[in-house]
Amino acid sequence: MENLVSMKDLSADQIHQILKQTQAFRDGTTSTLKNKYMVSNLFFEPSTRTKMSFEMAERKLNLEILPFDAGFSSTLKGETLYDTVKVLESIGLDVLIIRHEQNNYFEELVGKVKPAIINGGDGTGNHPTQSLLDIYTIWQEFGTLQDKVITIVGDINHSRVARSNADALAKLGAQVRFVCPPEWQGEFEAFNEFDEVIEDSDVLMMLRVQHERHDGKTTFSKEQYHHLYGLTIERERKMKKTGIILHPAPFNRGVEIASELVECDRSRIFKQMENGVYVRMAVIEMILKGRE
Ligand code: CP
Repeated sequence: MENLVSMKDLSADQIHQILKQTQAFRDGTTSTLKNKYMVSNLFFEPSTRTKMSFEMAERKLNLEILPFDAGFSSTLKGETLYDTVKVLESIGLDVLIIRHEQNNYFEELVGKVKPAIINGGDGTGNHPTQSLLDIYTIWQEFGTLQDKVITIVGDINHSRVARSNADALAKLGAQVRFVCPPEWQGEFEAFNEFDEVIEDSDVLMMLRVQHERHDGKTTFSKEQYHHLYGLTIERERKMKKTGIILHPAPFNRGVEIASELVECDRSRIFKQMENGVYVRMAVIEMILKGRE
């Protein structure tokens, strides 16, 4: 693996290899990288979890981090993403973590620049490390993804998390289903009634309503959405005894999930964030080892 831009690039074997290395890092294994590497995190869209989690992973791997502030970079003077990356290549960066609002921004970079590109999220397209940490969290819970029923609920059409997971979960043998309002279905086949699919789900993966991608055209009030598609306390009571709740976060409390459920016994939301650090360590190390 030379870059990681989409879950489509990973085979089931490669995903299992990442899960295994994630577990090793969780268990206290330290980095075996031989060389000193330079990394920069280029976030052109807001982020708390992904950016901080990558930075923690990089520090744990003893990488040297060069700070990049998109809001004070020469992209504001019109420098393109490609030219920005060529600048960072010229001054010696080895790895770039990039989040960008443009879908598939990485197509103009991969194979054309020297630094490894790890996608921290592209528009509504891909969020591979989020998918890997979701997969790891499910695997940690059940020991397998084979035949697990995973229901992804909410703003599917605007969700790079849904797209990345649709590709990857099915590859690992899970049964993936989507639930959303008809107008947010996009290219997916989806259930439009949430109550039909709660009782047999092993995992309910709730998605954030992405108001910022709706061009001011959100059709529901917060209360209406919560009533129709939110994980309410009544719905949580209908879940399987062993069922768990995931959410990539940030979450809108009282919209896609009742505030009381964010930290309930079934919730693995903060566990997902914890796991994200180790998953990102595994991905970065795997890519850099390929260069040694
Ligand atoms: N889950 C996720 O991508 O969160 P951030 O937008 O805070 O990085």
